[in-house]
Order: sequence, then C-alpha cells, then structure tokens
Amino acid sequence: MDFLTLFSIYVAVVLACIVLVCRYSGQQQTPLTLVFDSISKVAAPFTPQWLQRLTQWSLHRLFHQRNNMFIYLHILLEGAVYVEFTCEVFGFCREMDTTLISLSVPYVLLALKSSFFYLCIKRDPGTVTKKRVAGQLHVYPYDRRLFHPGVTCPTCQLIKPARSKHCRLCNRCVQRFDHHCVWVNNCIGAQNTRYFLLYLFSVCAMAGDIALLTGDMLLHAVLRSGLLSASFIDADGQQQPVGPLFIIQHLFLTFPRIVFMLGFLVFVFFLLAGYALFHSYLALVNQTSNEWYKSRGYTCQHCHPTSVVDHLCSPAPDQSRRFYYGRGLLRNLGEIFFPLRPVHKKDS
Ligand SMILES: *[C@@H]1O[C@H](CO)[C@@H](O)[C@H](O)[C@H]1NC(C)=O
Ligand SMILES: [Zn+2]
Ligand SMILES: [Zn+2]
Repeated sequence: MDFLTLFSIYVAVVLACIVLVCRYSGQQQTPLTLVFDSISKVAAPFTPQWLQRLTQWSLHRLFHQRNNMFIYLHILLEGAVYVEFTCEVFGFCREMDTTLISLSVPYVLLALKSSFFYLCIKRDPGTVTKKRVAGQLHVYPYDRRLFHPGVTCPTCQLIKPARSKHCRLCNRCVQRFDHHCVWVNNCIGAQNTRYFLLYLFSVCAMAGDIALLTGDMLLHAVLRSGLLSASFIDADGQQQPVGPLFIIQHLFLTFPRIVFMLGFLVFVFFLLAGYALFHSYLALVNQTSNEWYKSRGYTCQHCHPTSVVDHLCSPAPDQSRRFYYGRGLLRNLGEIFFPLRPVHKKDS
C-alpha cells in the first residue's frame, strides 16, 4: 500500500474516533458500549473472572463516573501541539520574517483558553441543593410540555426546577442543564454555559491560528525548495513536472511531525467550529441541548418504555417547536452571559 492510502486510512480512523467521542460523550448507550457488550458476551467463557471484572470496572469508571481522564488527554494533546509549534515551526517562521506579534498570538490564545477551560471545570453549573431549591424553582416557569411542576427527582429527593435535569455522572440535578461534558468533567448548566461557549470559540481560534501559521510555513518551505519548477524523468524517459501528490509526499518526509500536526489541527478546527456554531445557535434561541434533543420528537419513557427521554407525555404542540422559548436573540444571549440567579425569598 502506498503512503497516501495508509495516511488517509489513519486520518479516517482518528476522525471516526473523535466524532464518536463527541457525539456520545456523557450518554448511557453508545455504539462503543454496545460493541463492547457483545464482545464481552462472546469472550466471557474464555476470559478469567478477574479480567472481566477489571475491564467492567474501568469501563464503568471511564464512562459512567466523573473522572479526569479526558482533561488529562486534552492537556496532553495541547501540550504536544505547543511543543511541536515552539520547537519546529516557531524558529522556521522567524527565519522567514513572520513578525513576533503574529507568532505570539497562539500563546495569548492559549492563556485565554486555559482560563475559560479552568472556569468551566471549576464553576458550579447550578447544582440544585436543598438550600437553594426554593429560589431555583422560581427562575423559570414550567412549560408543561417538557417540564412539569411537582416532579421530584428520585435520586436527589428534591423538586425539579423547570429546565433542570439530573446528571447521572455527577449524581446531582443541575439547573438549566445543557449536557455533561467529559472534556471538562463537569455539567454545563446555568452558571457555566457562557464559559463553555467562550472556551469552544477560543479552542477554535487556537487551532485555526496555529494551522494558518503552520500552513504558511510549509508553503514557504515548498517555495524555497524550488520543487514547483522541478521536474523528473518518468519511466518512458519523458520530463514531467512534479504534481501536488509528490509535493505532499515530500513535505511529509521532510517535516513528518509538522504535517501530521497540521492535519490534526485542521480537523479539530472544523469539528469544533461546527459544534461551537450549534451551541451559539442554541444560545441565540434560548434552548439547551437537553431541550433540543427532547423536542426533536423523542417521546417519554412512560409512553414508550424503550425511549431514553422522559416527560413528553402531554400532546406536543407542533407549532413553534423550536423557537418556543425565544424572546429576541440578544436577550437570549444576554441570559447566557448574565444567568438568572435563584431568587432568595424571605419567609414571611
Ligand atoms: C428563555 O426561556 C424560558 C422558558 O423556560 C423563559 O422563561 C425565559 O424568559 C426565556 N428567556 C429569554 C431571554 O427569552
Ligand atoms: Zn437529581
Ligand atoms: Zn454532570
């Protein structure tokens, strides 16, 4: 197999993995767990008990409990990209007269991103607690469609405020629940959706900027090598100009790590840009991902025992399904950045 085929297969596999992780992070049933379940069923008679228990335990830890695995993975990948950038691209760019200012942009973005990342991890997303629940109940009215008054969370034993949901990984109810993000090991809820949005955009900017600088560097390297005007003698003894495939292969052989990093960055950029746009859309129409999934026509567990979503038993009104909550784009956005606080009423 030639090198390009191998490389594309490799890229496809990595892409598929990232998409799967993003799509199913925080959900109970994923293709991965399904595949794993069937494999372990088939392999069960041949594997020792302790191994079975160990894999079950680690899988449970990884996907059904809070853990910092993905935070470490995140930092590791980011560290690798920045080491590569600093050690190889930075020096080359200096030689070809890229200004220090544009070369320092990635580091500024890194600082920005890290602070949003930190806030996402550390901020309480709006946990429903015994002390605060009375105030939290008044933040949003029940719409009697997705959220009904008087429903108690069976685990927390507290009345569920409108727009809240119980997070199984964190084992708590969260106000204005969006989703549980494994990359920050925290729920995204009322109090940290803004940091999450800013975090997404800063990661995109970071990946995009480094990709541009690296692409620029590779372009210069090609121009400098004079490959564009070079030619080779083919099997028939004819002079042939070198094609794009040849140039890519040359670049890959000369700067393997840099080309690889560029591919990774372009990929992360498009993936996260799509995700960031989706979340911006949700912010603008005053919806959470949770509500978005629910109002896409999934039905309730009480009516359909196989459904994963609860509480959509009341006849779902067909009109204005999507823009149900909107009161103007700017005001919706304002609520993300200045989330409504639970009202603290003095008992009279
Ligand atoms: C967002 O939707 C909720 C409905 O649950 C509503 O109470 C709230 O006022 C809306 N916010 C804005 C800014 O429209
Ligand atoms: Zn709960
Ligand atoms: Zn959670």
